[in-house]
Amino acid sequence: MTSNEKIAAIQAKMGKEPISQLTAYDYPTARMLDEAGIDMILVGDSLGMMMLGFPDTTHVTLAHMLHHGECVARAAKNALVILDMPIHTFDTPEQAVENARKLMATGVDAVKLEGGVSKEAEIRAIVQAGIPVQAHIGLLPQKVKEEGGYRMKGKTDAEVEALMADLQAVARAGAFSVVIECTRHSVAAALTAASPIPTIGIGSGHGTCHGEVSVFHDLVGGFPWFIPGFVQPKANISADITRAVTEWKNELLHASR
Ligand code: KIV
Repeated sequence: MTSNEKIAAIQAKMGKEPISQLTAYDYPTARMLDEAGIDMILVGDSLGMMMLGFPDTTHVTLAHMLHHGECVARAAKNALVILDMPIHTFDTPEQAVENARKLMATGVDAVKLEGGVSKEAEIRAIVQAGIPVQAHIGLLPQKVKEEGGYRMKGKTDAEVEALMADLQAVARAGAFSVVIECTRHSVAAALTAASPIPTIGIGSGHGTCHGEVSVFHDLVGGFPWFIPGFVQPKANISADITRAVTEWKNELLHASR
């Protein structure tokens, strides 16, 4: 299937069946997610924390994303692969198009970028260059320093109005779907009811959006040092790894006696 055919198939699910999206940053994980039938694989800039040991996503560069995007693109046969645009790679429409082209050259299907009304021109320019865009509104992790932390959105009438304006702006600009991160659950549901494109929630309540995205490591217990409050892990791979490594080390000690 072409990227556009995959997007059409995902959009056809809107309101009929939930759309699934998970992050992956490497070949084996992406291949497992693809073989499990996940609709969209996001090479998120969360790789800054999950893979590279940075405290937040503001340290992630285009070079990091290109490296990981290639690995995931090689693995996925059916899923739509989306590569995140790191901070300051889409500050103007021209820069956004130039960098989106570089990211697409890794073999992915689409790019994602954070921002609503303030990024309408950049999204439109990328879409007009023939590159599909997933938008991202609500809590924007790339603004962590500016805002002094991570804070749920949609708590006041003004914030709800701004989120509605963001949604309309990204849809108008031609985004094929939109991530809604950490908004009040009732607000995510209202945004979804008003949205002409699929909404994909994270930390915004279950069943409030057309689909959900999760950071893979949160889902499988792969990053035990920080687990967001809204996450319900389905596995504990870090405990399994520690157990296997300890068992192997003990066997080694025992064999050497
Ligand atoms: O980088 C990422 O993993 C993301 C998700 C939180 C949506 O943007």
